[in-house]
This record gives sequence, structure tokens and C-alpha cells, in this order.
Amino acid sequence: MPDYQDILVTAPDSGVITITLNRPEARNALCNNLLREIAETLDSTINDDSIKAVVITGGEHVFAAGADIKEMAELDAVGVMNDIRPSYWRRIAQYPKPIIAAVNGFALGGGCELMMHCDIVIAGDNAQFGQPEINLGIIPGAGGTQRLLRTVGKSMAMQLVLSGEFINAEQARDFGLVSEITIPEMSYNRALKLAKNIARKPPLAVRLAKESLLKAYETTLETGLNLERKSFTLLAATEDRNEGIAAFMEKRRPDFRGK
Ligand code: HXC
Repeated sequence: MPDYQDILVTAPDSGVITITLNRPEARNALCNNLLREIAETLDSTINDDSIKAVVITGGEHVFAAGADIKEMAELDAVGVMNDIRPSYWRRIAQYPKPIIAAVNGFALGGGCELMMHCDIVIAGDNAQFGQPEINLGIIPGAGGTQRLLRTVGKSMAMQLVLSGEFINAEQARDFGLVSEITIPEMSYNRALKLAKNIARKPPLAVRLAKESLLKAYETTLETGLNLERKSFTLLAATEDRNEGIAAFMEKRRPDFRGK
């Protein structure tokens, strides 16, 4: 992996990489370069079959305090219109492999939106979530109004976006933003364990399962069910499906090859 300025990329276990947001002096605010580095790291692993899952974390104290407000202050409306950032967000959103977030401390604004781009969220019990953009005279700009409403429902989405108030880890779990809560020191370990578990699963099935689940956000039930069925059918043509069934019958561990 190349050396990055605003993130650290490590390979803690075979099949998994970890992206650690690394601007502690700015509470991991998502400056352009940091977002670009995330998008480039993810892109560089799409065709690398040895990498099967990604963990994103900000460390034990803060996930990310949002877009970099100091950078944002430099942009007028035309600058925002011509901004390259939406293309970085699109690349993160379209990443086909599972991304697991380990979130401690603040996940605010763009930080909360980055977390919502991840597929599974493990939160430390010190985590706080919010969309405080309203306090700056703006609104969420990386999917916050859309993904939040689809995840937590109308009333809580309105509450967060209109008031700018934060919610804690338990509330976030109650509303489906987070799947598990741990002590802050353990959230990364738990996310990594999940990533390692997923990395052992048949990669084509993992990929189509992620695609199918995400499609539910943006389509009718009938269209979603059709996609699911087509993916289910497609998987019947894979070697891994034969291997999975054979291993079950023969009472042994499957050896999945991603074929
Ligand atoms: C740039 C930031 C920053 C941010 C913190 N810092 N958040 N710099 N952009 N989003 C910097 C501070 O300026 C300060 O730098 C240093 O980090 C420490 O911040 P403090 O405020 O002193 O820390 P603390 O008291 O621990 O409070 C943490 C905090 C607070 C609650 C996270 O910093 C905060 O409210 N930040 C802004 C949160 C926010 O409004 N997010 C939404 C951004 S808009 P110095 O140099 O003074 O030491 C957004 C739009 C998304 O996300 C649109 C699409 C991407």
C-alpha cells in the first residue's frame, strides 16, 4: 500500500485491510485529501481477490467530526457545484466488498455519513452520532438526509437533522444505525473479528448479498425480490456453491475459491 497522509492502511489479517482515519488534531475531519485517500484505497482493492473485507475506524477517541469546516469555508456555491468530493463518496458507496465501521466517540455530519456508507457498524459505548450541519446553515450533503431516513425512520431523522442534537450508542442501536455496542477498546477488535469471519465466506455470495441488501434502499419490493432471485440463481452456477453444499454433506469445512 502507498504511504498516505491522512489515513493509515494496514493488513491485520489475511483477507482484511483496515483504514484508520488519521487526523487526530482535527478530530478526523474529512478533508478532501482524506476522502480521496479512502476512495483510492478502496478502488485499489476491488480487483484484488486476496482482500475480502475492509474495516474503517477512527481509533478509540473519535470517528470523524464531519467535513473539514475550514476547507468548506473556502468554497462558494460554484466551488461546491464543481467539487470533486461527491465523486469520492460515490466510489465509497459503490465499493462491492463489505465495509465494517468501528466507531468510537463522535461520528458527526460527514462522519456519520461515512459511517452510513459502511455495511455494518460496531460502536463503542462512548460513541455519539449526529448531523449538526444545521448549526452551520447547511444540511447534510453526503446522503445524510436520505440514508438516515431510510435507516432510522422519519421522526428520528427529522430530529437529528433539524435540531442538530446528538444520540448515544444505545439510541443508535435501538434505531438500527449500529448493530452492536462494545467498550471503546473492543470495538475495533469486534469489527475485525466480523471482517475475518466474512472473509472466510464465499466471496461471490458475499458480494451479491451486499448488492441485494443495498438495493432494498432504493427500489420497490417486487424489483428487489427479482434481483435477489436472479442473484440466487446466478450463485447456483458457481463452484463455491457446489463446494459449500458438498462440504456440508461430507461434514468438512468448505474451501471457497471465489469461483
Ligand atoms: C475542521 C475541525 C472539525 C471539523 C473539529 N475540528 N471538528 N476542523 N472541521 N469538522 C478541529 C477544531 O477546529 C480544533 O482545531 C480541533 O479539531 C479540536 O476541536 P475541539 O472543538 O476543540 O474539540 P472538542 O471540544 O473535543 O469537540 C469535538 C467536536 C467539535 C464536538 C467534534 O470539534 C465540533 O463540534 N466539531 C464540528 C462538528 C460539525 O459541525 N460537523 C459537521 C461539519 S459539516 P484547533 O485548530 O482549534 O485546535 C459536514 C457537512 C457534510 O460534515 C457534507 C458532506 C460531506
